[in-house]
Amino acid sequence: MMENKELLSVYVRNIEDYLQACFTEELPQKALYESMRYSLLAGGKRLRPVLTQAFCALCGGAPETALPLGAAVEMIHTYSLIHDDLPCMDDDDFRRGKPTNHKVFGEALAVLAGDGLLTHAFARITMAKLPAEGVVAAVRTLADCAGEDGMVGGQVLDMAAEERQCTEEEVRAIQSRKTGALIRAACLMGVIAAGGDEAQMTAAGTYADCLGLAFQIRDDILDVVGDAALLGKATGTDAHKNTFVRLYGIERCKEMVAEQTRSAIEALAPYGASADFLISLAQSLVDREM
Ligand code: IPE
Ligand code: IPE
Ligand code: MG
Ligand code: MG
Ligand code: MG
Repeated sequence: MMENKELLSVYVRNIEDYLQACFTEELPQKALYESMRYSLLAGGKRLRPVLTQAFCALCGGAPETALPLGAAVEMIHTYSLIHDDLPCMDDDDFRRGKPTNHKVFGEALAVLAGDGLLTHAFARITMAKLPAEGVVAAVRTLADCAGEDGMVGGQVLDMAAEERQCTEEEVRAIQSRKTGALIRAACLMGVIAAGGDEAQMTAAGTYADCLGLAFQIRDDILDVVGDAALLGKATGTDAHKNTFVRLYGIERCKEMVAEQTRSAIEALAPYGASADFLISLAQSLVDREM
C-alpha cells in the first residue's frame, strides 16, 4: 500500500496537471487567461482538491473521477483569494509567494480574473464523467458553500466585524462560512463523485466542519507567529480582525486546533484503516507552518 506522504504527492500532482491544462486556448482576451493562470498556478497547498480526491477514494471511487470537481473548488478558492487581497478588502501585496494578482495585472483585471474563475468552476463540474444526478448535486453543493450563505457571506461578516469585539459565536459564524464552507464543499463533492451514501455524506460533513475550524484557527495563529517567507503571504495583517487568537490567545488556540482535529478524526471512525490518509492529513495540518 502507498504511504500517506506518497499518496499526498500523487493527489497534488494530479490536480496540478489537471489545472495546468485549463485556460490554454488562444483567445483575443489573452490577458484575462494570463491573469487567471497567474493565480491558479501559483502553487498553494491544494488542500481542497486533495480532500475531494481522498473522499472519492474513501467512498470507493477512482480519485481521477473527482478531479473536475476538485478543480472547481480550487478555482473558487483562488478567486476568493484574488478578491480577498484587493485594496477594498484585505489590501495585501503577496500571495502564494508572489505579488498579488492586482499588483501585477491591475485591479480591474484582478476582479475579472476572479469572475472568470468563479464562472468557469461550474462549467468544469459539467465536464465530470458522472451521472446527471451527480453533476446536479455537485453544482448545488458548491453553489451553496461558495455563495451568499457560504464563503461570500463569511467575507461580508468578516469585514463587518472589523474593529469591534465579537463573541465566540460570532467568530464561529464568520469562520464556518468564509473558510469552513469551501472545505465542506471539497469533502462533500468527493463523496458525490464516488456516488456515496447518506452516512458517508454526514461523516464527510462533520470531518470538514471540524477540519475547517482547525484550519482557520491555525491560519490566525500563523498570522501572528508564522514566517511570511514560508507562508507566501504577509503576516501581522489581521491585528484589527476578529480572530480566535484575539478572543483566546495563542496557547488556547493551539489547544482548540488539536481538539477540532481530534473531532474531525473521530467522524471517520466507522471507516477504519481506509480513512488512514484523511486522518494523517488532518494531523499534519495541526502544526503546519504554511
Ligand atoms: C488561505 O487558504 C485562506 C484561508 C481560507 C485560510 P490556504 O491556506 O488553503 O491557501 P493556499 O491555497 O495554500 O494558498
Ligand atoms: C480568507 O481569510 C478567506 C477567504 C479568502 C475566503 P483570510 O483573509 O484570513 O485569508 P488570508 O490570511 O488572507 O489567506
Ligand atoms: Mg480576509
Ligand atoms: Mg486576507
Ligand atoms: Mg488569514
